[in-house]
Amino acid sequence: MTVDTSSLRIVELDPDDAHAAEASYAIHAAVRAYGQPDLPPPSRHRHVHLLRLGWPGHLEKHWLAYDGDVAVAELDVSLPQRDNLDNAWIDLHVRAEYRRRGIGRRLYELAVGYARAAGRTKLMASSWEQIPDGPFRDGAGSAFARAMGLGRVHEETRRKLYLSTVDDALLDRLLADAYAHADGYSPVQWTDRCPDEYVPDMAYLEGRLSTDAPTGDLDWGPENVDAELIREMERNRAIMGGRAFHTAVRHDATGRLVALTGTMIEHGVPEHAWQMITLVDPDHRGRRLGTIVKIENLRLTVAGEPALQAIDTTNATVNRHMIAINHAMGFVPIDVEAEWQVSI
Ligand SMILES: CC(C)(COP(=O)(O)OP(=O)(O)OC[C@H]1O[C@@H](n2cnc3c(N)ncnc32)[C@H](O)[C@@H]1OP(=O)(O)O)[C@@H](O)C(=O)NCCC(=O)NCCS
Repeated sequence: MTVDTSSLRIVELDPDDAHAAEASYAIHAAVRAYGQPDLPPPSRHRHVHLLRLGWPGHLEKHWLAYDGDVAVAELDVSLPQRDNLDNAWIDLHVRAEYRRRGIGRRLYELAVGYARAAGRTKLMASSWEQIPDGPFRDGAGSAFARAMGLGRVHEETRRKLYLSTVDDALLDRLLADAYAHADGYSPVQWTDRCPDEYVPDMAYLEGRLSTDAPTGDLDWGPENVDAELIREMERNRAIMGGRAFHTAVRHDATGRLVALTGTMIEHGVPEHAWQMITLVDPDHRGRRLGTIVKIENLRLTVAGEPALQAIDTTNATVNRHMIAINHAMGFVPIDVEAEWQVSI
């Protein structure tokens, strides 16, 4: 059903406007509560600061759509500035009670016009889908993306570890077995800020993720990660009140970090963690280093955040090795993130 959306007022969001920032937060929180109710509400503190700071290395703009005085939808467009210069990533959020009125289409058209004017030739987006026997997902995002002419190019499965189900004796056995395969390697851990000596290795490993993790037919090229970007991400996370827990593995012979993982806790949401990058350098794979960093980091996170109840992770559905580790630790599949792309 397409109805007249001419009464809709679309305004570029000013991150310093407290009312607009609050409206943006309310839309994001409502869309999450409707679409993925297993997740806690996003952190308000993080949201309003992220609007101001943006993602390091990206130019971000946001538009709010008002029906009268009510902010009913938001468009977020992110333009990578350091790499992937042909690409624009968009996020669209329409409050459930205002859907199927053409609001998404209006905002999508705005996104295409803006991205083209910025010289971008490809638009990407993602949406959440139900899995067999999984919790209900209405599939609106995927139906919308298809209707707008985007192609489904990749999918990731989100898995969750409920800490109440963790079998510590099993993790002990997995860890002992993993260390038996990993002679000549030692774990290294830190919270929030990477020790100076390891920042170049961390940048290298973070950068590899964009080339090593499967991304299907998504035209996403290598990301240019350096020490400066790592430090900017850390500074921004501190401003947003987030915490991060990292476990790496050092190759003793060279002193280099060759495996890395991390978790992130948002300000005011101590019961929930997001799994971040997990990567083992190709020359050092097959020695269970992935298992070591994941289990050691789970323990570091739990020790640092005693209120923690669940961790969410998202991996390419075809990423067998990572999924095998997560499965062994007790992560269970929840839903699928489909990724979409179109030439504009
Ligand atoms: C996806 C979303 C932004 C669509 O917003 P919307 O304002 O309802 O979209 P529109 O009314 O402009 O829909 C445009 C077309 O998309 C298709 N579409 C949208 N929602 C659909 C649904 N639930 N089922 C089937 N088709 C759908 C239809 O073809 C529709 O045209 P029609 O109503 O004339 O048939 C909204 O559902 C949403 O916020 N979902 C959660 C977040 C999300 O998934 N965002 C990313 C999308 S890539």
